[in-house]
Amino acid sequence: MVSDRVLLETESLSKSFGGVHAVQEVSFSVRQGQIKGIIGPNGAGKTTLFNLITGVYRPDRGSIRFDGERCAGLAPHQMAERGIARTFQNVELFERMSVLENVMVGRHPRTRAGFISAAFRLGGARGEERLIREKALEILGFVGIVDKAEWVSSALPFGLQRVLEIARALATEPRLLLLDEPASGLNAVETRDLGRLLGRIRDRGITVLLVEHDMSLTMEICDEILVMDYGRRLAEGTPREIQRHPQVIAAYLGEELVA
Ligand SMILES: Nc1ncnc2c1ncn2[C@@H]1O[C@H](COP(=O)(O)OP(=O)(O)OP(=O)(O)O)[C@@H](O)[C@H]1O
Ligand SMILES: [Mg+2]
Repeated sequence: MVSDRVLLETESLSKSFGGVHAVQEVSFSVRQGQIKGIIGPNGAGKTTLFNLITGVYRPDRGSIRFDGERCAGLAPHQMAERGIARTFQNVELFERMSVLENVMVGRHPRTRAGFISAAFRLGGARGEERLIREKALEILGFVGIVDKAEWVSSALPFGLQRVLEIARALATEPRLLLLDEPASGLNAVETRDLGRLLGRIRDRGITVLLVEHDMSLTMEICDEILVMDYGRRLAEGTPREIQRHPQVIAAYLGEELVA
């Protein structure tokens, strides 16, 4: 359920690369329990916004608050510890590892002994490794690929690699999950299944921030949408409001905005 509680809030967030103003003065918020979409033409600054929120880039200006705490400038592992997980626009898996191992690696920020010592069975880590394994299997069951736990991840069809990346992000037990174009490269059936999975992730109490070019998916599953254009916040509102917004329609001239 969407609450009034603001989980993530940015204010005047800005980041430039040389002369390119990738993200300019972007203020927006995500409420607990929402699926919030971010749309915008290529180069609008969506991935850069994700990289700022996850600590990959330090903002030139502006602030980020997660669960009330100021966190602009923190490192990626510090953001992960606070409960932010992500997937990437281009799938990034450990290709030679099994499906199960990929998810077990994702547990890393949540374990005391750490994954490395668990992997090498250093003192006292064996019990913890068993727990990591059980948790990883539970997550693979949740996303629907537990029957492929022992597969080498590169052997998975592309659509399931995207699902595995989501599973690995879920293994960190995030409060906020950032997905960068998860439907990219998926066929219609896979996209429909992805939409259902995202709904179930939200039902699990995890807030979702979704960058996506697939308009039908975005309009169908998002509670609210932020529209970016040339690094700026162009509009924000419900899918219905966004579909009727004159400036949004202008930015997407010629493209199908209606679900
Ligand atoms: N590391 C970087 N160095 C230089 N320029 C960058 C860098 N990252 C992004 N940019 C530039 O910033 C702008 C925004 O890029 P960004 O990747 O955030 O867009 P996007 O909305 O994710 O686009 P797409 O829909 O194509 O993924 C673009 O002009 C891009 O070329
Ligand atoms: Mg991008």
